[in-house]
Amino acid sequence: MKFLRLLLILFVFPTFAQQGGMWIPSLLKGMNETEMKNLGMKITAEDIYSVNKSSMKDAVPHFDGGCTAEVISPKGLILTNHHCGYDNVQSHSTVEHDYLTNGFWAYKMDEELPNKDLFVTFIIRIEDITTKVLEGVTNLPSEAEKQKKIQENITLLTKSLPKEAWQENLIKTFFDGNQYILFVTETFKDVRLVGAPPSSIGKFGSDTDNWVWPRHTGDFSLFRIYADKNNRPAEYSKDNVPYKPKHFFPISLNGVKENDFTMVMGYPGRTQEYLPSFAVEQIMNELNPARIEVRDATLKTQNAFMRKDPAIKIQYAAKNASIANAWKKWIGEAKGLKKSNAVGAKQKFEAALTEKINQAGKQAEYGHVLNEFKTNYANIREYALARDYYNEVVLRNCEILTFGYKLYQLEQVLASKGEQSFNDRKNNLIKGFHDTYKDFNAQVDEKVFEQLVQIYATKSPQQFLPTSLKGIDVAALTADVFKNSKLTTYTGLQELLNGDSKTVIEKMNQDKAYILVKTMAEAYDKNVAPKWNEMNLKNIALQRTYMKAIMELSPKSARIFPDANSTLRVTYGKVKGYKPNDAVYYEPFTTLDGVMEKYVPGDYEFDVPKKLIDLYNTKDFGSYTDKNGKVPVAFIATNHTTGGNSGSPALDAKGNLIGCNFDRVWEGTMSDIYYSPDICRNIMVDSRYILFIIDKFAGAKNLIEELKIVKNTTVKK
Ligand code: ARG
Ligand code: GLU
Repeated sequence: MKFLRLLLILFVFPTFAQQGGMWIPSLLKGMNETEMKNLGMKITAEDIYSVNKSSMKDAVPHFDGGCTAEVISPKGLILTNHHCGYDNVQSHSTVEHDYLTNGFWAYKMDEELPNKDLFVTFIIRIEDITTKVLEGVTNLPSEAEKQKKIQENITLLTKSLPKEAWQENLIKTFFDGNQYILFVTETFKDVRLVGAPPSSIGKFGSDTDNWVWPRHTGDFSLFRIYADKNNRPAEYSKDNVPYKPKHFFPISLNGVKENDFTMVMGYPGRTQEYLPSFAVEQIMNELNPARIEVRDATLKTQNAFMRKDPAIKIQYAAKNASIANAWKKWIGEAKGLKKSNAVGAKQKFEAALTEKINQAGKQAEYGHVLNEFKTNYANIREYALARDYYNEVVLRNCEILTFGYKLYQLEQVLASKGEQSFNDRKNNLIKGFHDTYKDFNAQVDEKVFEQLVQIYATKSPQQFLPTSLKGIDVAALTADVFKNSKLTTYTGLQELLNGDSKTVIEKMNQDKAYILVKTMAEAYDKNVAPKWNEMNLKNIALQRTYMKAIMELSPKSARIFPDANSTLRVTYGKVKGYKPNDAVYYEPFTTLDGVMEKYVPGDYEFDVPKKLIDLYNTKDFGSYTDKNGKVPVAFIATNHTTGGNSGSPALDAKGNLIGCNFDRVWEGTMSDIYYSPDICRNIMVDSRYILFIIDKFAGAKNLIEELKIVKNTTVKK
């Protein structure tokens, strides 16, 4: 009997299936809370989100609009990733004080460094306001009128819904326009740099290890939020005081074991989990390969120059890393989609949904959707491909073309907004280009240009290309552009932009690079953009109806979560290794031993600071060890995360901080489109490694003393 019941439980609640999904924190009660408890959670949904008392959501701000952070002390200390704080660390760095290379630690509060433009945003309250947003919308005759009315309602409600003077109302759509949710927020603008390890810890492994497990990166940095005397948001002032949070996370030294419950709270940016099979096929077989091809050529060229010339290496480091980040993700995504047969799974889902539509007698409302998707994705194919080639070649990877494109926009500003706007824009461009050209090397870009224009002229759908590009001698064009265009140097650019609008436009239109960009842009704007926009709008409307059908016709127990949209979400799962390939199994934990195994003295990716080597050799680990006496570095789990979750708190069953999220494993990056618990894993740096570095490596006892550190069940202060 007992056995039977166990069997039944296992059958009804396959715990492995209860994973994946990014859930709205105010709606966890019910299905999610039950699942989380089944997985081992010891706290309640009310502890995570509450309107009546302080809860965990009060400790998780959006960091600088793109990452996540968590409050870890009663004095407003926050933790995020090294790569999230990177720009701020860089902005304080000089040759004498190179904080990127050597790290930075404030040993007293008055040593903390203010950051212009850095901000963090807390969520005060979350409220479903769908009926308000959709008021007066349903009876409007056309899609365009509906959209317009919705926008008007949102603008009005943003202003009129109740909030305090220092707060903001933010309204976001969920489920592709089927739900609207209000977030009342507070944004703090005095956020100071407190600590960052050297890049040889915070960025250890750099691009080679990016998206890769096993991982050994100490990807964290520390900041502090300052508030006015009333604990409210304020612009930077030396009179501001450390922010007193409503909640902060205790940090656990206990760690987790394989199969333990973990959850991650944060601000995932964008996912597309409900695309129809036709769209997934297109991304996997057509669009990703095209983007990858363009970036392959760019990266190979840049890398060759960077390896030979240290100056070029510095100039191209950030650009190269950012091009490589998405490139590497797309390659992993395509592999993962194939390996997990995402298209097959979608097709099965679509067949089942069609069945349900028929059974429910909803053919009139939903019966057309999948067929229309099919036609529409077939029709948009060439346009989508042309768009990706254009974006990657003209707007993203070839620098001289991106410069030319900015001038093309300048010419359009003159036509649409007149002389004054033209001059303002022109002066801004001249200013902005000053820094851009510091990191520009015409020799590198010439090689990139030649390959990318070749790809564009031969691979981008031919029917949309400007005639002048068809069958062109790319080598000759490249030589001509890089010999004669003013855009190859900053002084050349200044000369080009010198004069009144008429003179400038005349000069631009004689420049070889400009002529090429303009030809490409005009052809694209005429032959591709309008059609793509039209069909894309259709897909957006179809997606809304499709989503509605899914929500309406799925059983109550179905795990349907809204796509990521940069709002606060909760994801949960288990600590778990995975099998990336035949005969290979990855364990879920790494340790300092692995850092030393990867150590390459003097290498730009795998060097290790001497202090860390000394600590390792003398085994000076303090209490920051696992049960084997080793210092844990990183671990993985089945939490469903994406870009924007960087810096997110990783929490154990009791809501204690056990790590800081910073990446996903390469084989599982398809989780943005299709989550599979078999191979999708998020990567977190272990909180014990973070504390070890702060305490033993940096000697910042002042920070350790602020924290609430938990071991077993006792609280050590
Ligand atoms: N892959 C991570 C993310 O998508 C980390 C990127 C930063 N690190 C790097 N080596 N580029 O943001
Ligand atoms: N590194 C990513 C970020 O900056 C998180 C990794 C991911 O995409 O899951 O948000």
